[in-house]
Amino acid sequence: PKPALAPTPPMGWNSWNKFGCNINEQIVRQQADAMAASGMKAAGYQYIVIDDCWQKSRDEEGRIQADPERFPSGIKALVDHVHSRGLKFGIYSDAGSLTCGGRPGSAGHEFQDALQYARWGVDYLKYDWCYTGTRNPEAAYTIMAKALRESGRDILLSICEWGTGQPDRWAPDVGHMWRTTGDIFDAWEGKKEWSIGMLNILDLQVERWRHSGPNRWNDPDMLEVGNGGMTNTEYISHFSLWAMLAAPLIAGNDLSTMSEATRQILTNADVIAVDQDPLGQQARRIWKEGDLEIWARPLQGGDQAVVLFNRGAQPASMSVKWAQLNLPGGLKADVKDLWSKAVQRGVAHSYAARVEPHGVVMVRLTPRP
Ligand code: GLA
Repeated sequence: PKPALAPTPPMGWNSWNKFGCNINEQIVRQQADAMAASGMKAAGYQYIVIDDCWQKSRDEEGRIQADPERFPSGIKALVDHVHSRGLKFGIYSDAGSLTCGGRPGSAGHEFQDALQYARWGVDYLKYDWCYTGTRNPEAAYTIMAKALRESGRDILLSICEWGTGQPDRWAPDVGHMWRTTGDIFDAWEGKKEWSIGMLNILDLQVERWRHSGPNRWNDPDMLEVGNGGMTNTEYISHFSLWAMLAAPLIAGNDLSTMSEATRQILTNADVIAVDQDPLGQQARRIWKEGDLEIWARPLQGGDQAVVLFNRGAQPASMSVKWAQLNLPGGLKADVKDLWSKAVQRGVAHSYAARVEPHGVVMVRLTPRP
């Protein structure tokens, strides 16, 4: 069986959303330093993950080599730097002959690559699905999972197969998280080549709650918070909804230059606590009427997290009734707004709030004894 490396959704940073193929060791070191210094590490972020384009070629023995121009000090030195900041290191490969960025893939080299990652001290592998030809996804990911297990090191497996090969049926037993869609791009809504906007991804998560739980998380793709394509209100919605989905929280912005507003979103401890709730119950969309939606998830100990979400262009008055949460109407609860931090005590029957256009009100309900 796979090692239990993700009792709660993994949290970290990945190079792809901001830097794409334009990465180097300097950038990655800066991100690790910034994660430690900015309060991100204290908030629970742990992994620094280099995505595609760190690789160059294989040597005559087939060993994978880092791009010597981008990573002149080598991967081991970079892993050591990340570890020295009290963080963990993630790397990227692909189950095909080539990665999506055209670098060498791991097909036929799974055991060799897993051993190399273990020697370097790698803690996390994101394993992609380009150039896989007729490979069967379950079989291909199972081989890499076995190679990682036999590498002698605990390495988390992030399956990046875009939901095309029915990952619900096999990925929960093979990896710790699996992508459910194509790539996100930094927009509220829309399509761009093979990528889709935040709302488009959200709409593909509605039926997925049954499949996730501790050590087996649906991955609606990495965060775009702070990358500039959405407003602050929209990024707060994006972050709140990903926390409701018990999604891996993998920041995708430049941590070394982020604004205070971005930092505040990414480090909101109350919202992160919902994402990281040990019960691991992904939210369900319990109500929808036009542009207005209510999402809810039960938390450990009897609390509930609720998001009132307004996708529309006008402010909205919204409310959630206790009956919609399967709570008795007369029950009194303390309700904390996880963004404004305002608390209403002893609320019965329902909770109402005004929700800004493209915004959320996210609350935590604690029933009174
Ligand atoms: C695919 C993945 C992305 C990213 C790129 C890298 O598109 O889904 O998350 O890893 O490849 O090339």
